[in-house]
Amino acid sequence: MKTSELRNRYLEFFRSRGHTVIPSVSLIPDNDPTTLFTSSGMQPLVPYLLGQVHPEGKRLVNSQKSFRAQDIEEVGDNRHTTFFEMLGNWSLGDYFKREQLPWVFEFLTKEVGLDPKRLYVSVFEGQGSIGKDNESVELWKEIYKTVGMEAKEGERIFAYPARKNWWSRSGEPEKMPPGEPGGPDSEIFFEFPNVQHDPAFGEKCHVNCDCGRFVEIGNSVFMQYKKEADGSLSELSQKNVDFGGGLERLVAATLNEADVFKIDIFAPLVARLESASGKKYGEDTEATRCMRIICDHGRA
Ligand code: SER
Repeated sequence: MKTSELRNRYLEFFRSRGHTVIPSVSLIPDNDPTTLFTSSGMQPLVPYLLGQVHPEGKRLVNSQKSFRAQDIEEVGDNRHTTFFEMLGNWSLGDYFKREQLPWVFEFLTKEVGLDPKRLYVSVFEGQGSIGKDNESVELWKEIYKTVGMEAKEGERIFAYPARKNWWSRSGEPEKMPPGEPGGPDSEIFFEFPNVQHDPAFGEKCHVNCDCGRFVEIGNSVFMQYKKEADGSLSELSQKNVDFGGGLERLVAATLNEADVFKIDIFAPLVARLESASGKKYGEDTEATRCMRIICDHGRA
């Protein structure tokens, strides 16, 4: 699928489920000194996740241009970029897990046509006073049943600690500054069975392995907590959902293409680099790595 088509289908899918399409804000955050660049769709929405009333309502959707430098050393492999578009949908104290998880699954499998057998999910295993997200486990089992699959924990659904399945702008609960919202999340991974596991990343492959066989394509954050000055987590006045999905990776998944740089939006850049360098993308490992870096940094 083409990038613009996938973006449009996503916006329309959630628009027809009561969401207002909001514009992508500037990459330079407005009135927000916490990061140099806008790094996710939720960033401009923090006041509304904390309870302020959003003028466009409680259901929002968009595709937000985002920049993250934390993976900058990874750029050059087949899937990491610093700049990407994040498909987001938000419930600001409106719907919660029971509505959002089935919608995302429907979008990925029915609207976009991804094979459910290649989708795996993770949930929060719990920490301290916040228990394991058994509700999401049960929901995922029900969701997979609708496509005739029996999803078992340890095979299709995996529980991970806060390091992997808790999301806030600052990471795990211990790292959140006072006032910061966050919560447990449920991630969705797409499997590329043709990618052989690389033992450099560990003995066994798993959904969170970095070898490239499993690629994260979506993340539903159940943003319902706020960090307090005494270090504890309190419940927010409203339960929010903050979903983010990588547009470029999703397009690659629809093409069964493990290399994100092979999607349509990179094609003109790659062609230009090929003609300037006289090298063919994909033939020479180092030249390919360099072309990916230039594509990503140029676009960023
Ligand atoms: N904020 C979450 C993320 O960036 C989901 O949008 O992954």
